[in-house]
Amino acid sequence: MSGEAVPRLIVALDMPTVPEAEALAERLAGLPVCLKIGHQLAYTGGLDFVARLIRAGRPVFLDLKLHDIPRTVEEGVRSLADFGATFLTVHAYPQTVRAAVAGRGNSPLRILGVTVLTSMDDHDAAAAGYREGVAATVAARAADAAAAGIDGLVCAATEAADLRASLPPGVSLVVPGIRPAGSAAGDQKRVMTPAQAIRAGADHLVVGRPIAGAADPAAAARAILAEIEGVSRVAAPDAKP
Ligand code: C5P
Repeated sequence: MSGEAVPRLIVALDMPTVPEAEALAERLAGLPVCLKIGHQLAYTGGLDFVARLIRAGRPVFLDLKLHDIPRTVEEGVRSLADFGATFLTVHAYPQTVRAAVAGRGNSPLRILGVTVLTSMDDHDAAAAGYREGVAATVAARAADAAAAGIDGLVCAATEAADLRASLPPGVSLVVPGIRPAGSAAGDQKRVMTPAQAIRAGADHLVVGRPIAGAADPAAAARAILAEIEGVSRVAAPDAKP
């Protein structure tokens, strides 16, 4: 898949209620952003809200991070395939990716594989029973997912350069853990600024609290868009902003 038609900035609408998410989406209207809906909203009427956003022509990212036995994943993805969302996440376990790609079929829905959550470091990976550290696990899952026909991968900016170098160009890299200079990392452990992440190889940036929690979310989004305007990937893995 190519990321050209989809905005580079994805805003996570991580709000407790649909009216609050609606208000944030309204404040961001007119900006070139994709809106991401996750578990918090999906389970409180968020899917109806998503349908309204799609009818209004807003690009939407369903961050449902599916992971189940293959048949359940395949049928779940099939149920969403023609909903009109731009992106849907699944965990990038090989069985799950293969099932999701089968369920997506020829629909325009783009499947993104979450390699290793950006809230995890090597210590967390070991505690979860992973045999390898984060970097090796991300590389292995990404290669498997690309071979299975995934449309894109969710990874930390710190892995983007290596993944960009090893993956086919059609596989998009979607990067959360983005923190404009001076903003709090919160529970994210592998963070970069917007410009750093684009230079490292990110095609799309996912930003939540730095926009949703700002006094003026539209101004915060515009500042990020300005920061990345004209910025593109550089080959060096240790790109500086
Ligand atoms: O508030 P913040 O910018 O940390 O939000 C990041 C968003 O990206 C959240 O909605 C989170 O669920 C999502 N995400 C992530 N790490 C992943 C996949 C998605 O942080 N690996």
